[in-house]
Amino acid sequence: MFKTAALFAIATSLAFLILSPVPKPTYHSLFVSPSLSDNASISHHLRTLTRRPHIAGSAANAAAALHVLSAFTSSGVTSSRLVSFKTALSLPVSRTLTLTPSPSDPPIEFSLRQENHGENPYADEVAPTFHAYAKSGAAAGPVVYANYGRVEDFAALREIGVNVSGSVVLARYGEIFRGDIVRNAHAAGAVGVLVYTDKKDYGGERWFPAERWMPPSGVQVGSVYSGLGDPTTPGWPSTEGCERISEEEIEMGGEVPLIPSLPVSGADGEGILRSVGGHMARDDWQGNEGGLVYRVGPVSESCLTSSDAIKEAESEKFVERLGKLQKRGWKPRRTILLCNWDAEEYGLLGSTEWVEENRELLASRAVAYLNVDCAVSEPRFYASATPQLDELLIQATKQVKHPDNSSQTIYESWLGSTNPGKCVRSGEIRQQRSLTRSEVPCDWVMSGLIGRLGGGGSDFAAFVQHIGVPAAMMSFDNGYPVYHSMYDDFTWMEKFGDPMFQRHVAVASVWGLVALWLADAEVLPFNYLSYAEELLKYTNEVENEITGNEDISLSPLFKSIEELRKAATKINRQREIYGPSKYNDYGSKFFPGIDDAIEIAKKSNTEESWKLVQHEIWRVARAVKQASQVLNGVVT
Ligand SMILES: *[C@@H]1O[C@H](CO)[C@@H](O)[C@H](O)[C@H]1NC(C)=O
Ligand SMILES: *[C@@H]1O[C@H](CO)[C@@H](O)[C@H](O)[C@H]1NC(C)=O
Ligand SMILES: *[C@@H]1O[C@H](CO)[C@@H](O)[C@H](O)[C@H]1NC(C)=O
Repeated sequence: MFKTAALFAIATSLAFLILSPVPKPTYHSLFVSPSLSDNASISHHLRTLTRRPHIAGSAANAAAALHVLSAFTSSGVTSSRLVSFKTALSLPVSRTLTLTPSPSDPPIEFSLRQENHGENPYADEVAPTFHAYAKSGAAAGPVVYANYGRVEDFAALREIGVNVSGSVVLARYGEIFRGDIVRNAHAAGAVGVLVYTDKKDYGGERWFPAERWMPPSGVQVGSVYSGLGDPTTPGWPSTEGCERISEEEIEMGGEVPLIPSLPVSGADGEGILRSVGGHMARDDWQGNEGGLVYRVGPVSESCLTSSDAIKEAESEKFVERLGKLQKRGWKPRRTILLCNWDAEEYGLLGSTEWVEENRELLASRAVAYLNVDCAVSEPRFYASATPQLDELLIQATKQVKHPDNSSQTIYESWLGSTNPGKCVRSGEIRQQRSLTRSEVPCDWVMSGLIGRLGGGGSDFAAFVQHIGVPAAMMSFDNGYPVYHSMYDDFTWMEKFGDPMFQRHVAVASVWGLVALWLADAEVLPFNYLSYAEELLKYTNEVENEITGNEDISLSPLFKSIEELRKAATKINRQREIYGPSKYNDYGSKFFPGIDDAIEIAKKSNTEESWKLVQHEIWRVARAVKQASQVLNGVVT
């Protein structure tokens, strides 16, 4: 599937103080109205973009980039352009995998090919199955089956006396990042790693194109690099002729694996597992391949050769409904940048290089970043965010109908999936008093449903980690069986992921509404109460953990959280009183308190009035300081 890794970055722009004749909320409801929502156009773009495989750096990828550019341009997005970087992308030169079940058996050579289901005319252009930035070289050794390749899996092997040292580890996808599987195997002493797709996690008795499941020959490819951006330019943009570090220096950085690895299919995984002897694997290590009893080994020999070449390639990034709003007179208060990133799969290359190139500007002016990646694959809605954006996400899901059931909103279906009996809707909370645990507001329950943006995983990473911009990510997806395989295509989407393309429309509505609110609000609608709520939630969990222990008191923690909550509430109140300047009802000021005090002082020119200006400056400075204290989690 084409990675709809499009997103908004929003930068404050004081130059964009434009008065619009129509109230902003009108445009906001227009944005989510059926008249502007077009599932046919989404389907058309997806079909065009996914017609040919287009791995980063390929000619087909450049064509996809041009399609996005022309779609942006024809929607009226101003200053649409491509920005290119020279990045080091890895591609395999040759790969072989041979299994010698026993010294007397002939070696088995694996084809390492995914079978064409007959509907994909460009199947030959699909990249060979490989792990991007895998270590080049050959590895041979007895096979050890290591379950999901987690730290605890290798510990369990150690406990039962299985020596992983010198072995080729066979692990299955499904619990952790593939790069970490390779890293953990290396730490346990393995010389090579094979990662396969087990039916238990991705399969069914029937598979694509008949069903949504991964076919037996399907292989999940992907990067094993755990850094952000081009590994040859850590921390700076990959521009033409820029400084680059050597392969040895990259390896010293610890973010690329030091042993070779290959992804393999369920069928190949099964073939290898058949030859693995030794201890029977625990029940929770068993899978669903071929009625086999999984064993941990080591007995058979597996030989893995893989050679990756790093090639220099161009990677581009870019920029319908917003265009339609603009045609009807809407002008955003803040700039909205629509970006479509390239080379996400290699290690977030496009987004990271761009952030590195524009770091200072983004750090001082970007106010939020909204990410969509793997936008749609199922009916359930998911969101993750930095906590000050929770409330906006909740409000947006209240405005958008559920694409699979128009008699409820996304919010209601989301709430239905939790425990609605245990929460109180906002209207029902009549007075400000401390709530009992069974009276938690529903919005708190919702904010508990919103995940947090972890390490890497998608293009928000450079924004959150390098420049600390509040960010959110949303989708109708939480992983799908054909992910990162040859079957991850338009046919799969049309048959199983989103047959009417209405889920695509809905995710664009939520994403767009949050963007419009952020772009148009006079004072940024961030709510820091979520931070306090989140801390309280975790503290309550700690309290449960330590019940019965009289020596430990959580009261200092509760007290500090209460102070944080108060600070957040106070900021929220100040946010409410910031508004249009008293002295220019049509105008709007960034610091209306300071500006108004200046107006008065200029007129009266008394010592007292200028003192008031100084007071307003202190007041805003304190509010800003408080906001950063909240952000930094520092409570004084
Ligand atoms: C594990 O195997 C390696 C390589 O065969 C060997 O050097 C090492 O001593 C073994 N370790 C243990 C604890 O048996
Ligand atoms: C659709 O939503 C309505 C209202 O919440 C609910 O009663 C109904 O059960 C839902 N239908 C399905 C098929 O989920
Ligand atoms: C768009 O949605 C309508 C109504 O749900 C549906 O009939 C139509 O087939 C959809 N179009 C596409 C291209 O999926």
